Parts: sequence; C-alpha cells; structure tokens
Amino acid sequence: MRIVLLGAPGSGKGTQSQWLVGRFHIPQVSTGDLLRAAVANGTALGLKAKEAMAAGRLVDDQIVLGMIRERLAEPDVGQGFILDGFPRNLTQARALDQLLAQIGQPLDAVVQLNVDYGELSQRIAGRRTCSDCGRVVNLLTAPQALAAERCPRTGQPHRLFQRPDDNQATVAERLRVYEAQTQPLVEYYRQQSLLRSIDAEGEVAEVSARLEQVLAR
Ligand code: AP5
Repeated sequence: MRIVLLGAPGSGKGTQSQWLVGRFHIPQVSTGDLLRAAVANGTALGLKAKEAMAAGRLVDDQIVLGMIRERLAEPDVGQGFILDGFPRNLTQARALDQLLAQIGQPLDAVVQLNVDYGELSQRIAGRRTCSDCGRVVNLLTAPQALAAERCPRTGQPHRLFQRPDDNQATVAERLRVYEAQTQPLVEYYRQQSLLRSIDAEGEVAEVSARLEQVLAR
C-alpha cells in the first residue's frame, strides 16, 4: 500500500503514520524527520534546511526531492510506504507522480486529516518528543497516557523536549504556508480520484479506525 497523509501541522500525520506502520508493516517516510536528522547531524543538507525550518517556511524543493528519491530507492519501501509531510506543494506532487511512474509504483490513496485550527494550536503547544526513543506525546491532550508510560529504551520516564519550530510565531507561519502551498494538493488529488478525507479529531484510536475504514474502500 502506497499512501500519502495530507494535513496541517499538528493534524496527526506522524501519530497516524506510526499506527499504520504497525498495522500494515510498511515504513513511514517523513520528510520532517529526515530533515531534522540532517540538521542534528550537521550535514551540508541540514545546514541549508535549518534556517527555513526555524522560520516555518518550506525547505527548497530540490533538497527535499533529492532526499525522497534516495529514500524511495531503498529496499524496505518495496511493499509500500506512508509519505508523511510530503508532498507539500504542486511542484513536489508532480515530481512524485513522475518518480512513482518511473518505478511503476503509483499511489493507492491520499488521506486528508481534517482538524479545527484551535485544536491544532493546542496539540502543537503540548507536543513533546522523547530524546531517547523518539516517541511523540502530548502534555495537554493525553497527560494520563504520558504519566503511565516508561521509555522502552531506558525503562525510565521519557526525557522530553519541545521541537524548536513549535513556538507560536513559527507555528503561525507553518499554518500560513500550509494554506497557501499545501492546501491546493487537495484539489490536485481529488482530480486524480485518490483523495479521501477524514475527521481527525477525537481519540487517536478513533481516528485510526476512520483511517482504516477509508483505506479499505
Ligand atoms: P513536519 O515535521 O512535516 O511538520 P508538520 O507538517 O508541521 O507536521 P507536524 O509534525 O507538526 O504535525 P503532525 O501532523 O505530524 O502531528 P503529530 O502526529 O505530531 O515539517 C517540519 C518542517 O520541515 C516544515 O515546517 C518545513 O520547514 C520542513 N519540511 C518538512 N517536509 C517538507 C517538505 N516536503 N518540503 C519542504 N519542507 C519540508 O501530532 C501533533 C500532536 O498532537 C502530538 O503531540 C500528538 O501526540 C497529538 N495528537 C495526535 N493525534 C491526536 C488526537 N487525535 N487527539 C489529541 N492529540 C493528538
């Protein structure tokens, strides 16, 4: 199964990708994670991406497309993949179509995750990531789950950090960029009859159930 998850910052793309990985045993390909790793490792690509990410702008298409080409050439994507945070504009979507046509692996579905803007802001404000296992949790929307959990790597409570681009000013810019550049992809994929939209509010498990339902169509 080859899927794109489309949605605003904080809509749950990463959270639902993790669920899909467990459900369908296909890898999550997150351009945000790939870029954050490049920044953390101080690679040339990371240095180029860092400023745009900190400002909430999109990283240059050529950088992102190069990364995606490399990632989709790896053997683990042979049985399918979940694209999380890619494509982000029409140039990237057209390039993806071309690439997938070349390797004979067209998309099966593009799922749009719909969440109210007020809820998005709350989710992003409460998001934290464990620096040991990478698990994404939320202090505001799921404090009970967090209190009960131990990090699977250390056996201790998670050591949490906040993403540097999760501050108010950068989030406002990320939402603006989403509206201006990514939202047009909804129509692009609707015209290709690939688009499925779900209500992505409510419990994480409820959203996963809706996702599974639209993927079964
Ligand atoms: P990226 O990492 O892709 O960030 P994003 O699209 O802004 O999305 P987020 O990671 O913020 O949110 P999400 O939808 O994954 O939500 P999550 O599941 O974490 O991109 C970061 C930056 O990298 C971009 O700004 C850009 O600079 C660059 N970049 C990336 N891709 C690019 C590309 N293709 N081209 C150019 N530049 C690119 O959930 C959020 C929180 O809510 C979590 O705490 C979670 O626990 C909680 N939550 C999830 N679901 C629920 C629920 N149902 N109820 C309550 N809480 C929930």
